[in-house]
Amino acid sequence: MLGPVILAASRSDKMRRIVSAAPVTKPVVNRFIPGETVDQVIPIVEELTRAGLEVTLDVVGEDITEVEQSYAARDAYLQLIERLAELGLGEKAEMSVKLSMFGQALEGGHELALANVRPVVEAAAAIGTTVTLDAEDHTTLDSMFAIHEELRRDFPQTGCVIQAYLFRTEADARRLAAAGSRVRIVKGAYKEPAEVAYQDKAEIDKAYVRILKTLMDGEGYPMIGSHDPRLIAIGQELARKAGRKLDEYEFQMLYGIRSEEHLRLAAEGHRMRVYTAYGTDWYGYFMRRLAEKPANLLFFVRSMITK
Ligand code: FDA
Repeated sequence: MLGPVILAASRSDKMRRIVSAAPVTKPVVNRFIPGETVDQVIPIVEELTRAGLEVTLDVVGEDITEVEQSYAARDAYLQLIERLAELGLGEKAEMSVKLSMFGQALEGGHELALANVRPVVEAAAAIGTTVTLDAEDHTTLDSMFAIHEELRRDFPQTGCVIQAYLFRTEADARRLAAAGSRVRIVKGAYKEPAEVAYQDKAEIDKAYVRILKTLMDGEGYPMIGSHDPRLIAIGQELARKAGRKLDEYEFQMLYGIRSEEHLRLAAEGHRMRVYTAYGTDWYGYFMRRLAEKPANLLFFVRSMITK
């Protein structure tokens, strides 16, 4: 019951101000977002890659209101790619981007987001890595898929995310399960209405399995984004049945969540990528992590009371 309330709060400016200013927020935030700057996140990338893991980096931020902020987002990613290149980390680290941070919701936003993300994808390709377009709320997805298709003309390795809770996703998965595509399947983290999305957890899990099967049986590269032990086991089984080798799909999990499982899968020979978010505008990302597991909220509230 708490999840939808927290998700509604994730879009509230008033709550943003209260939560961001609370002195006890920081240690709880750090569990999921291990730094605010490139200099703080690079040692984390080094540590993860030394442990045999791969990384996808997200500069946190979304729902911007000014065009200048969209340029700042582009520049933050370009700076990150430069640092990865200097340190020779291009092979192990890719980027995840939210198009709303690149201006998608502003006037003329589709073109603006495309113009901002293109140089990032280009710079990533130049150092041998790639970019995955995150999926945000359902109203943004037609634009996201169109930008994905456009980018793939020049950079076919550009990835995208699909969300199992949306009714549309099974059709999207069939379209995307083509040679050369890279698709991350997740359950979905936004508050979506019953007209467009399953509300029941069991229904979402069943849809996830159907979609994952489509991806595994297809010709693209599936990226299994989940911490759910049942779905991870099913993912392994579907990959085996589809005759895929260990380097023909990968697992992805979020930094700070089930970290021992990251290492276990990597030790079994799986490609395991850790989604690592950093930056100062962490509010929306943080609130979605609280909504996924209300126990996180209790921990957060308890730390506020006992301070
Ligand atoms: P589920 O929520 O059932 O969790 C399974 C178990 O994992 C829980 O029982 C708990 O142990 C642990 N767990 C999960 N979330 C936790 C949390 N926040 N804190 C502590 N423990 C937790 N969504 C989206 O809409 N668009 C996107 O682009 C992405 N991108 C993305 C990338 C990657 C790599 C991952 C792993 C996830 C996303 N997501 C996302 C988020 C996704 O939609 C979903 O909300 C979360 O992954 C939680 O769902 P699970 O599949 O982990 O299952």
